[in-house]
Amino acid sequence: MTIAEEFPSVRVRAPGKINVYLEVGALQEDGYHELATAFQAVSLCEEIVATHSDGFTMAVTGTVDLDGVPVDDRNLALRAARLLAAETGYEGGVHLEVHKQVPVAGGMGGGSADAAAALVACDALWDTRLSHPELHRLAARLGADVPFALKGGTAIGTGRGDVLNPALARGRFDWVLVTSEEGVSTPKVYGELDAHRERHRVDIGPIAARPSVDAEVLHALRAGDPAMLAAALRNDLQVATLRLRPDLASILEYGEASGALAGIVSGSGPTLAFLCATPEHAAELRALLEADGHTALHVHGPVPGARVIG
Ligand code: C5P
Repeated sequence: MTIAEEFPSVRVRAPGKINVYLEVGALQEDGYHELATAFQAVSLCEEIVATHSDGFTMAVTGTVDLDGVPVDDRNLALRAARLLAAETGYEGGVHLEVHKQVPVAGGMGGGSADAAAALVACDALWDTRLSHPELHRLAARLGADVPFALKGGTAIGTGRGDVLNPALARGRFDWVLVTSEEGVSTPKVYGELDAHRERHRVDIGPIAARPSVDAEVLHALRAGDPAMLAAALRNDLQVATLRLRPDLASILEYGEASGALAGIVSGSGPTLAFLCATPEHAAELRALLEADGHTALHVHGPVPGARVIG
């Protein structure tokens, strides 16, 4: 029996993420910012089914607004499949069915999760058997957040966010996400942060040459203590996202006044993430936010990275 007959299709799930800490350093010559972040993978996942094909094609379905998701070579999942084929000398192709649940351009790494899922799916489908470090290297070439989507759990990211070290984490953290109908562009948010820092240079002072994750965050993750983590949440991009999307500020205030331990912009946003003390508190907050006219989801973390299922 050929491999194609034995494995007609492979299904892979990959998680979205929340940056529970994101310190942005200076802009580097390559156009990226040096950063230090703590990622947590959460139970809002993308799914990809890969089947054998002569070419490289894809289709997208999902529970989120799919406007602006390309289904050609601009899509990171298809680029991931092509990159794996090129690097391994695999001569066939693949058809990818992507089912999206992570908001598009929402700051939760949905596109990165698709790319990580495509790498794992094609590696299994084509039986190319890359090692973890090899897959990680390809992931980092696709985007700063792709290695974490591959790894999942809780991790500290430095460099562009792609140099990962696992972080000890215990227990479960409950989050309520508020999604936005319209996404924001990540490069635009970083650009807005640079402009903000330039305008307020005197007040802000020098930017850390070597950003690092605060010890309190590591402590809270290790202890599995949501209240401690809530007090240590930080996102340097938040000021820039709120400038581009001033409407988010009142939702952050509403969530914090309605039972969240703390609220934060997820990555470059516009998704908001509210950390809650217990699953019950999260369910209550979700209902309140929905009643206030928002789209709210209850998720938890940490969860594993991209993996074959079913
Ligand atoms: O790597 P990725 O495609 O996710 O990054 C999108 C954009 O976000 C980059 O082109 C860059 O403008 C910005 N970025 C950055 N510094 C990082 C990560 C991303 O400036 N560490």
